[in-house]
Amino acid sequence: MYEQIKVYEAGDRKPKPLDEDLRFGDVFTDHMFMMDYAEGVGWHDPRIVPYGPVSLPPAAACFHYGQTIFEGLKAYRGPDGRVLLFRPYDNARRLNASAERLCMPGVDEEMFVGAIEQLVALDQDWIPDAEGTSLYIRPVVYATEEHLALKPSSTYTLVILLSPVGPYYRRGIAPTKIYVETEQVRSSPGGVGAAKTGGNYARCLQAEFRAASQGYDQVLWLDGRERKYVEEVGAMNVFFRLGETVVTPPLCGTILPGITRDSVLHLLGDWGVEVEERKIGLSEVVDAHDAGLLLEAFGVGTAAVISPIGLLHWNGKDMEINEGRTGEVTARLYDALTGIQRGSAEDHFGWIAEVRLR
Ligand code: PLP
Ligand code: COI
Repeated sequence: MYEQIKVYEAGDRKPKPLDEDLRFGDVFTDHMFMMDYAEGVGWHDPRIVPYGPVSLPPAAACFHYGQTIFEGLKAYRGPDGRVLLFRPYDNARRLNASAERLCMPGVDEEMFVGAIEQLVALDQDWIPDAEGTSLYIRPVVYATEEHLALKPSSTYTLVILLSPVGPYYRRGIAPTKIYVETEQVRSSPGGVGAAKTGGNYARCLQAEFRAASQGYDQVLWLDGRERKYVEEVGAMNVFFRLGETVVTPPLCGTILPGITRDSVLHLLGDWGVEVEERKIGLSEVVDAHDAGLLLEAFGVGTAAVISPIGLLHWNGKDMEINEGRTGEVTARLYDALTGIQRGSAEDHFGWIAEVRLR
């Protein structure tokens, strides 16, 4: 049995944005979930409180040594009014894998998913309806001990936020323009590239900013050892269709093991598409492009969903893919995945968890 979640409801409810005004991650709902951890005590005091600032001492360990981890998943309103979560237990498992890598405490999977369900049920009126919108769920765990010596913190807080969102990219669902970064690297073997931790994102910002200032949407990272092999894009895993084969980099500890990536592999396998998880040299992608065999490229992720890549920039050269249009496999994957997520297509894989609405 878990400690019961105490609920402190907000007195005033905030106005909700119109679905058509939604962008990504700039509006938050009325409530958030919080729970604290202390060594020797464990997780305690689970509570739902009005969304608002948290207070931390400047010596809190999260500000100094980067002990923070997070997750991202979405809730959808089904056509029949049901509220649906997509693979929430996979997020719980990945949060715990990230926690282990950063010497942080794991959370009980049932408790974690139960907390998300209760929070989403309370703020369910914030779930947008329009195509391409959803309620983004952002759990984050941060170290809170006031301590400056380098050691794992003995105290932590888990917060779960909700944010109604539209498309992640400013171009909406139109194909993205991706810049292949050849100097900086996101991660390297033995590092924390597979963990969902803030430092992985902070180290990407400079290259992302440079790429954005030249009109690109995101950066494609190459491997940290040789800068030769494709890894992933800033907020998504990446796939290429080379002729009739779809390829994606393997999970070797340097990229995030994406839940959307795994879902796409299952869908493609189910359709009988030839798929390979293997090292992909950037030169192979360039050669395939030059030979007319790079038929499609797309990124996949919770925020990004299935995002077609219409152009890759590498070493001063813009390579257009599929004439800058969304490819056939990309479009089929988008429809199949969002159909399952939004409850309009059958969930053969058992990916959907329905939120009990009290
Ligand atoms: N890669 C990175 C670096 C990400 O931040 C994300 C987003 O979570 C992904 C890949 C895709 O992972 P998922 O499909 O689990 O959202
Ligand atoms: C997600 O897709 O859930 C992520 O965490 C990516 C983030 C950069 C928005």
